[in-house]
Amino acid sequence: DGVSKIREEDLPPLVEEFYARIRADPELGPIFNDAIDDWPEHLGKLAAFWSSVMLTSGRYKGQPVPAHLKHKARITPALFERWLALWVQTTNDMMTPEAAAALQAKARRIAESLQLAMFFQLEG
Ligand code: HEM
Repeated sequence: DGVSKIREEDLPPLVEEFYARIRADPELGPIFNDAIDDWPEHLGKLAAFWSSVMLTSGRYKGQPVPAHLKHKARITPALFERWLALWVQTTNDMMTPEAAAALQAKARRIAESLQLAMFFQLEG
């Protein structure tokens, strides 16, 4: 399957290009540029994240839900669609079709669960 086409060394250039496009996006760019001071650290963290979720390397030890909840006031479901559209474009441009499809399917599932955590949280 597509996962077997993904190599660890593909991930740093992929996240670098993705966040370059994110930062250039008029809607998503300001959220990330305001939140992130140390871009090399963020890119390293995201390469580790994708390595953990696609290659089960266990390299990422973080908590994505609280990281996004901090920015709840600025994040909407429409922005998740925009994020996913940029991920589809970037993975299609940089990866084999099989690898891109696997990365896109995984991102859609994670985006769904992040949105459930962010937008459908019960009060109290
Ligand atoms: C971190 C924004 C979607 C994965 C962050 C941060 C921001 C952000 C601002 C930095 C948090 C901080 O430390 O202050 C967004 C926005 C999204 C989005 C605006 C969509 C509208 C996603 C999706 C994924 C993802 C779909 C995964 C597929 C991550 C990860 C981190 C992160 C792994 C690092 C969390 C940590 O510190 O361990 N995101 N994000 N994000 N994001 Fe997103």
